[in-house]
Amino acid sequence: MTATAPKILVADDWQDYRLLDSGNGGKLEQVGPYRFVRPEPQALWSPRLPAQDWDSADAVFSSGSSDEDETGRWRFARTLPPTWAMRWDDLRFLSRPTAFRHLAFFPEHSVHWRYAREWLHQKGGQPEVLNLFGYTGLASLACASVGAKVTHVDASKKAIGFARENQREAGLSDAPIRWICDDALTFVKREIRRGRRYDGVILDPPKFGRGPNGETWRLEDSLAELIDACQELLRVEPDERGSAQGFFIATVYAVRLSYLALAQTAQQAFTDCAGEWEIGEMALPHASDKRVLPTAIYARWRS
Ligand SMILES: C[S@@+](CC[C@H](N)C(=O)[O-])C[C@H]1O[C@@H](n2cnc3c(N)ncnc32)[C@H](O)[C@@H]1O
Repeated sequence: MTATAPKILVADDWQDYRLLDSGNGGKLEQVGPYRFVRPEPQALWSPRLPAQDWDSADAVFSSGSSDEDETGRWRFARTLPPTWAMRWDDLRFLSRPTAFRHLAFFPEHSVHWRYAREWLHQKGGQPEVLNLFGYTGLASLACASVGAKVTHVDASKKAIGFARENQREAGLSDAPIRWICDDALTFVKREIRRGRRYDGVILDPPKFGRGPNGETWRLEDSLAELIDACQELLRVEPDERGSAQGFFIATVYAVRLSYLALAQTAQQAFTDCAGEWEIGEMALPHASDKRVLPTAIYARWRS
């Protein structure tokens, strides 16, 4: 297998979100009307903006013991509402400070929402998309709002609650989305047994997680098995001699894994599938200089 040349996908299509600066292990962001400072272990360089810009943040998240430890706490310079409305493209959703340091959306993923939408537009009709580890539901809503039927899977009831709030906020309450609280791998295996097929699969697994019945998800142990199973779930058009049709997007963050490792694991599952691969890193642009902040790795394919 020859390595595909990597590509850096920069999420530069936001109006309501801006990465103002980063450096010294932190980042300064404008999220709707509010400014936040959060830890950013990859920002080893120096900040460019003066200290008073950083000091103007409405809230600061102070990290727990280690870089990858998600624990810590927010300090608010003033009282913020529990949620506020945001917009990406034509999609409205809610942002909020969470106990896990994030703000209930991951802006770097917009590059994949756009990719999925492009494929769905071209396909037309009502394609079916499976969104695994779907959390805030933004990928699900991006697909549903252009006519896809979506199955959204997450192990956390609370996360599904957030996603459903976003569905209402987006004005998509009547969109055909199945909200499923289940372990991703268990669900995918069950769908294969049932003979279900999808036109697109999106997965954004954490390093470690638990299914609702105590199932353990460990990325290093189960990613290859899950990707194999996702490939099996893709629809095979009768006239295409067994090659899967559709799209597949896998992203991984907060794990010491190269995009080559992710790509080769995915490409092995898709050996017999004709299509186009893109692999590499995802990044966020800074609002007023040319630096980009790396956020995650990805491998994506479309027929
Ligand atoms: C970082 S989030 C994914 C973010 C999502 N792509 C988004 O843009 O909102 C990881 C999600 O995986 C879920 N999760 C963890 N373990 C799981 C499992 N075994 N099966 C299904 N979902 C799981 C968590 O509840 C969490 O919502």
